[in-house]
Amino acid sequence: MDLATSGEKKILWAKGHMPVLAHIEKRFAKDRPLEGHRISMALHLEAKTGVLALLLQTGGAEVTVSGSNPLSTQDDVAEALRQRGLRVLAKRGVSVEEYRGWLKENLRTTRPTLIVDDGGDLLELLHGELAHLADGVFGGAEETTTGITRIKALERQGHLRIPMMAVNDARLKHLFDNRYGTGQSVMEAFMRVTNLIVAGKVVVVVGYGWCGKGVAERARGLGARVVVTEVDPVKALEAHMDGFSVMPLEEAAAIGDIFITVTGGWHVISHPHFKAMKDGAFLANAGHFDVEIDIPALEKESEAVEEVRPHVRAYRQKDGRTLYLLAEGRLLNLAAGDGHPAEIMDLSFALQALAVEHWARMAASGKKPEPRLYPVPDELDYWVARMKLESLGIAIDRLTDEQEAYFARWR
Ligand code: ADE
Repeated sequence: MDLATSGEKKILWAKGHMPVLAHIEKRFAKDRPLEGHRISMALHLEAKTGVLALLLQTGGAEVTVSGSNPLSTQDDVAEALRQRGLRVLAKRGVSVEEYRGWLKENLRTTRPTLIVDDGGDLLELLHGELAHLADGVFGGAEETTTGITRIKALERQGHLRIPMMAVNDARLKHLFDNRYGTGQSVMEAFMRVTNLIVAGKVVVVVGYGWCGKGVAERARGLGARVVVTEVDPVKALEAHMDGFSVMPLEEAAAIGDIFITVTGGWHVISHPHFKAMKDGAFLANAGHFDVEIDIPALEKESEAVEEVRPHVRAYRQKDGRTLYLLAEGRLLNLAAGDGHPAEIMDLSFALQALAVEHWARMAASGKKPEPRLYPVPDELDYWVARMKLESLGIAIDRLTDEQEAYFARWR
């Protein structure tokens, strides 16, 4: 198959499992709420992202798509989107410099009125090197925890110039995408790249946020003995009561077979941990950036590094042990897999589309929002949930008027 045909098939497959986006598409085709807008997107460029980009185009926007990681772009999907008339500035396996180059070109040539970001790289450029373009951006939406952390840091320092919507923080996002999406796709990618059994192994999940919870639960479901490490006492207690072993990473390092970082932090697995690990241990990251595993420290202790399977790099230690790093320490489920399941991204990307529409409608009404981090309005969360339930044929109850009145009373 040529590239574009392969990408188109992937997009159609994903689209067939994204009923909420299909619902929005019908309305967007009729109302064209994004007419006149130029949108810069930086998302993991795989099939579901393609469905979102095409939906925004159907809504009337001029869309330019880039990746949000040097290793997660799927070139066939990128080519299929080009054939469908989108501008795509992304390629798989580029250097960090080239990756950033695409993002800059995206912003410079699009001069966006709206942005859709995953991890905050577009926003960072719009507050640094390309700050002269920030005033033209009416609003944006951020997909992931790491991006939200960066926006909050900008906001705290009083520098945020663009109103951003925290899609990640919507209930329908983190309860499903971060938990079930990451849980399934990370364990799936581990099995795909190693072709090894999970049952009976000790899986150490580093970080017990929503993503960590999902990974821990799915690893347990596959028969692993799961250890959780945390720095937050509340989350640690939660992991304990959820039935996982909780201990410091230095202790877990000696007993783990598979280590999965999901913290969003910096060098959380480092030299003392590598030193304690068993021969043959696996290191994988499921957080946004490739900084959670201290790869320079790992390299320093290695006398040889070799690719033993696609996405599996063996670090031969000077003391004779081998540690295996998966997907170069980049987020495993997207660098070595297809990302979250389509039904899950249906929810997240429905919120993205509605967030973008929200800003576009506000722009049309002439209201200029303050540059702040905004929560996704509850009604959008509820609407998407209702649409999903409807597509699944699941009906739920409604409060009676008396019950509503009861909740409204304080006596
Ligand atoms: N596919 C596209 N974007 C994704 C994301 N942020 N996480 C998982 N899968 C994705």
